[in-house]
Amino acid sequence: MEKIGVAIIGMGTVGTGVAKILLDHGDRTARHAGKTLWLSHAVVRDLKKDRGFEVPEGVLTDDIEKVIAADDVQVVVQLIGGIEPARTVMLRLLEAGKDVVTANKALLAEHGPELFEKARQLGRSIAFEASVAGGIPIITNISQCLSANQIKSLNGILNGTSNYIITRMDLEGTAYDQAVKEAQALGFAEADPAFDVDGTDAAQKLAILAHLAFGARVHWSDVPKRGIDQLDDLDLKYAKQLGYRIKLIGLSRLTTEGLQAVVGPMLVKAGTPLAEVRANYNAVSVDGDAVGPVFYHGQGAGQMPTASAVVADLIDTAVGRTAITFKTLELWSDESNRIEMAQPGDLTGRFYLRFNVDDVPNVMAQIAGVLGQHNISIASVYQHDNDIQNGVVPVVFVTKETTEADANSAIYEIEKLDCVQSGSERLRILE
Ligand code: HSE
Repeated sequence: MEKIGVAIIGMGTVGTGVAKILLDHGDRTARHAGKTLWLSHAVVRDLKKDRGFEVPEGVLTDDIEKVIAADDVQVVVQLIGGIEPARTVMLRLLEAGKDVVTANKALLAEHGPELFEKARQLGRSIAFEASVAGGIPIITNISQCLSANQIKSLNGILNGTSNYIITRMDLEGTAYDQAVKEAQALGFAEADPAFDVDGTDAAQKLAILAHLAFGARVHWSDVPKRGIDQLDDLDLKYAKQLGYRIKLIGLSRLTTEGLQAVVGPMLVKAGTPLAEVRANYNAVSVDGDAVGPVFYHGQGAGQMPTASAVVADLIDTAVGRTAITFKTLELWSDESNRIEMAQPGDLTGRFYLRFNVDDVPNVMAQIAGVLGQHNISIASVYQHDNDIQNGVVPVVFVTKETTEADANSAIYEIEKLDCVQSGSERLRILE
């Protein structure tokens, strides 16, 4: 059978998973690719490290130049994280005539236009299914399977680490720091877990999906973002009492003013599919004008789910499918930039607002008064006497639909009231 030379650069969690599939299931991958995916090089930092499985003699190397120079390597799985040297290595691989498969969303979100342009100029391809939502084939689905549609909205849980942490905190009362450590030990977190918990990783993924779904050339740093790192247990508890769960959501929707996109912890109605996504799972809910609502669910982080997406890309590249779609999609080209971003302040929705207030008369009236002055109608108010501490009690207002701008101005004024103490919270409710 014909064979195609494959190299892996970076044998961390995902790279090791990819090597395992290639080495342990060569028959399966050959059947799907119509040729043998032959692992010729795996570039590692430490040749002596025990990888827990046997790599054939001569495959491991600590010299990346061997891959760049190898004429018999046609596809390279580039799994170096972060921006540099990942960007330079990818450019050199393309220049050396290799097709590239990657899971590095940070690199694509930051330098997608440059890398994709370079690949196009050189007649090469970049496949990146594993860069968003791990094992869920969301890139292929949005860019190919749903291509008959104008996608109207796309909302998702895009960071497995954050979802794991919130699930542990919410359902088992695990402390935040402990849950972060567990997510790292389980191989879900980025090398720097700050990107997982501060919303950066989810914003980078949402920017990639928004480009594919809406044709918007969104830079991830233009997506207003917040992570789960400042969440208070109290709000998890109150959300639950109100019939919601808090999830880190990437929200995007097409409006007449342009594309709205935001990442942050949001209240999601308990019992709905997104609210019940647990642990390292991700989910993406897409609404297309022809297909209607579609929901994708699967493991968004972890060794084998992510390796599953990488190997599928390898097979597609070996078969020649990637080259065709890569050429037709013209990703991150000037032609693909069809939609502008809307003003973040115009984003409408309902909000959960918690203020820590003095337990004295007339507080509710003052807050309600400010909300009213900003045309914000109140849906419900929640306060529990058991939560009074040192004369201060949390009070929660659930608003009716308003704009982000009006909600922010009202909160700014409410926080200045003498009866309102520090530590308020504002969370969007996902409808
Ligand atoms: N750290 C990422 C996550 C891995 O937790 O979702 C997959 O991109």
